[in-house]
Amino acid sequence: MRIEIVGRWVWITGASSGIGAELAKEAARAGARLILSGRNGEALAAVARECEVLSRSASGAAGASEAGGAGRAGETGEAGGHECLAFDLMDKEARAAAVRQALAISGGIALLVLNAGISQRSLFEELSPEAFDRIMELDFKAPVDIIRRMIPSWGGGTTSASGILVVSSLAGLIGAPRRSAYVAAKHALTGFSSVLRGELLARRVSVTTAFPAYVRTGIAKAALGADGRPRGIDDPDIEGGADPAKVASRLLRASLACKAEVRAAFTLESRFALIATRHLPGLYARLAAARVRSLGTRESER
Ligand SMILES: NC(=O)c1ccc[n+]([C@@H]2O[C@H](COP(=O)([O-])OP(=O)(O)OC[C@H]3O[C@@H](n4cnc5c(N)ncnc54)[C@H](OP(=O)(O)O)[C@@H]3O)[C@@H](O)[C@H]2O)c1
Repeated sequence: MRIEIVGRWVWITGASSGIGAELAKEAARAGARLILSGRNGEALAAVARECEVLSRSASGAAGASEAGGAGRAGETGEAGGHECLAFDLMDKEARAAAVRQALAISGGIALLVLNAGISQRSLFEELSPEAFDRIMELDFKAPVDIIRRMIPSWGGGTTSASGILVVSSLAGLIGAPRRSAYVAAKHALTGFSSVLRGELLARRVSVTTAFPAYVRTGIAKAALGADGRPRGIDDPDIEGGADPAKVASRLLRASLACKAEVRAAFTLESRFALIATRHLPGLYARLAAARVRSLGTRESER
């Protein structure tokens, strides 16, 4: 099974920045039509403008290479024509309305990319219950809700395969310290998507779960501190992380090829953490405790 997106619709949440914006550009280059979501309408419009340019040059290049040839009519689709759908994923009614709008715009989504997310930097004992719930809502319940509402639109006699790309995290595989809610939400997403992968095959919907490790985006600055407010401080791991464009390209290729899972931007340390979590959990806990001590536990310290 392979997902074709040329001239078909790809809906991306968290498309206003970071990995999501790069996924949008990559899908535009590949000839897809896009629905871009996030809260920041201006940022979405800026990404959409970049995608229009990329779509036009991609369709021009495809047209030129096919000129005089057999001419695969309609295969390159209409260049551009992307849509922005700005809404807050924390708002349940807005989520329901957005699904209705996305389906009305597209008539059917070839690839749903559930990428929006927010991280955390604080000990569990200091994190407010509201902040914990907020992270669970955005990172786990919102994507589950969108998938639930989207399922009836797939598999109604269509022969083309469709897909869901669920952006989990290295934190969906290991117990990264000072990220209790984020780790809980991403582990839940990992488990949930592994079940859906089997259940949705009958509808010819492929589910790919992505596990990026450290990617150079605004995720650390936007991460919630103990009081539930964005900390506004970057992490060395994220500052020195992988290029989001390269990560997006890897994620999109894996989902179009209907891979079950894709890892990206894993460092030696991430690989070790994964092995230690699975096989030496006691040792991993001691290393995590040492890391917490070295970072300090107060909000003003990293
Ligand atoms: N960067 C990394 O190292 C890394 C590693 C592993 C996994 N990930 C995952 O990758 C995904 C993308 O993160 P990123 O690194 O690209 O960070 P980012 O640049 O901060 O992107 C987060 C995206 O989520 C959207 N978002 C946040 N709150 C939202 C809300 N309430 N409603 C709707 N959209 C909301 C943001 O859009 P608005 O601000 O416009 O709402 C933004 O587009 C996340 O799921 C993250 O957990 C990242």
